[in-house]
Amino acid sequence: LFAGEVEFLKGVVGMDGLPPDDRIEVCFAGRSNVGKSSLINALTGRKGIARASNTPGRTQEINFFTLGDERFLVDLPGYGYANAPLAVVEKWQRLLKQYLSGRANLRRAFVLVDHRHGVKAVDEEIMTLLDRSAVTFQVVLTKEDKVKEKDRAAILTQVREKLSKHPAAYPEIVVTSSEKGDGIETLRAIIAGLA
Ligand code: GTP
Ligand code: MG
Repeated sequence: LFAGEVEFLKGVVGMDGLPPDDRIEVCFAGRSNVGKSSLINALTGRKGIARASNTPGRTQEINFFTLGDERFLVDLPGYGYANAPLAVVEKWQRLLKQYLSGRANLRRAFVLVDHRHGVKAVDEEIMTLLDRSAVTFQVVLTKEDKVKEKDRAAILTQVREKLSKHPAAYPEIVVTSSEKGDGIETLRAIIAGLA
């Protein structure tokens, strides 16, 4: 499903720009710089299809990619700190929240959490919004390659504990490294399996 079947469709800056909600849709949400765009690149096997960079606030639009004929992958702007003017950040945060709470065909939101840092207050805010909007979300831990072995278990416990409080959370956590490729095949299978 992923090989050679991904195309960039459009970048959207307002709810009126969203494509028709006639496909199964999954989105990638998370704090600025957590690795959303990199994960899309890794999933699709096309480096650079989603623009990634070390500057938090790189993705400033909602970017839609078509996956075959039936699915949309959606790269979202980050929340939390961003290296961009406040007015601009506030505009995209508002759009992000509108999108996450009002998209009828959104089957699953992947909430990306840096494996070194665990779930932060801003992540919980988004999770609560997803609970209220009845959007099933699944946590994807990112940058697995950067976690210290001694911290791993405690962070996983923290994440599980946080998830247990969110009714919209899907219990299985996916551990990934876009750099090394860990968890990418698992995530592809999850996306391909959504009906
Ligand atoms: P915004 O669009 O600004 O919200 O950021 P983003 O969440 O899309 O993050 P992006 O994919 O641009 O990645 C941010 C930085 O983290 C880049 O420098 C990436 O190279 C790096 N990065 C992403 N994933 C990984 C990973 O799995 N391992 C390592 N070591 N670095 C990663
Ligand atoms: Mg990005």
